[in-house]
Amino acid sequence: EYVLTQTNFVHKDDLKYPFEERGLQFGDGIYEVIRVYKGEYYLIDEHVERLFRSAEAVKITIPFTKKEVYSHLDELLKKNNITTDAKVYLQITRGSAPRDHAFPQNIEANLYAYVQDLPRKLEMMRGGVSAITQADVRWDWCYIKSLNLLPNVIAKQEASEAGCFEAILHKDGEVTECSSSNAYLVRDGKVYTHPAKKNILHGCVRLRVKKFCQEESIPFIEEAFRVEDIQYADELFLSSSTAEVMPITVVDGKTVSNGKAGVITQKLQEKYEEDAK
Ligand code: PDD
Repeated sequence: EYVLTQTNFVHKDDLKYPFEERGLQFGDGIYEVIRVYKGEYYLIDEHVERLFRSAEAVKITIPFTKKEVYSHLDELLKKNNITTDAKVYLQITRGSAPRDHAFPQNIEANLYAYVQDLPRKLEMMRGGVSAITQADVRWDWCYIKSLNLLPNVIAKQEASEAGCFEAILHKDGEVTECSSSNAYLVRDGKVYTHPAKKNILHGCVRLRVKKFCQEESIPFIEEAFRVEDIQYADELFLSSSTAEVMPITVVDGKTVSNGKAGVITQKLQEKYEEDAK
């Protein structure tokens, strides 16, 4: 298994992080998780664009052009002979230098990327998953895909300890997104989700969900729904590169609607399947 570090491939057991890597000391970096189906990237343009947007937002200069990033990512799959379903984790940190909160002078960003097998979660996608609700205690700039994931990690752990797949996050009752996915509610044939403001991650799959809805003339309403709306929902689902379009059928121990994947969710799953082929 080969890991990419800058432009070099090293065996994963031989990768050494510098001790003063700012990604480790400050979470000073950004990342992407990119889906691979049968050895081919899905939504790669969306991910590369977001990577560069995140970098700009935190004043990291990526030491590669977009074209170079594409070619390194392609090489990563080739080097590892990936022909199956997988995910690529790509991280760019500000670099390493003696510890100081302010950016050190002449620092060069570090890039790391690796690929892991990831079978599709077909059974969960059919039957749905359960979730808990949790206060969203994250910062105001969640549109940046930053390495600072402690609130997300804790929320996901709470979900896991409750035997659930995800934590639905809310600010004063308004649902923002989930700990590592976007959240949607369906009522009377309309899909509701938090607008793509600075306080949520603008998911690559979210963009597709929006497009699929438009193609199917399903109203896609970018208005936040509230935790108390969930009890009246016809359907609830989440989306991400690793979970695709996933029905949420139980929230805080209560069944959502009839407890099954809803018709709109299933339609969006079909469209996703077609699109990702
Ligand atoms: N998570 N919201 C948050 C907070 C996320 O971390 C993610 C992705 C998403 C969905 O984004 P996308 O559709 O681009 O995958 C929404 C990735 C998969 C992760 O951290 O593992």
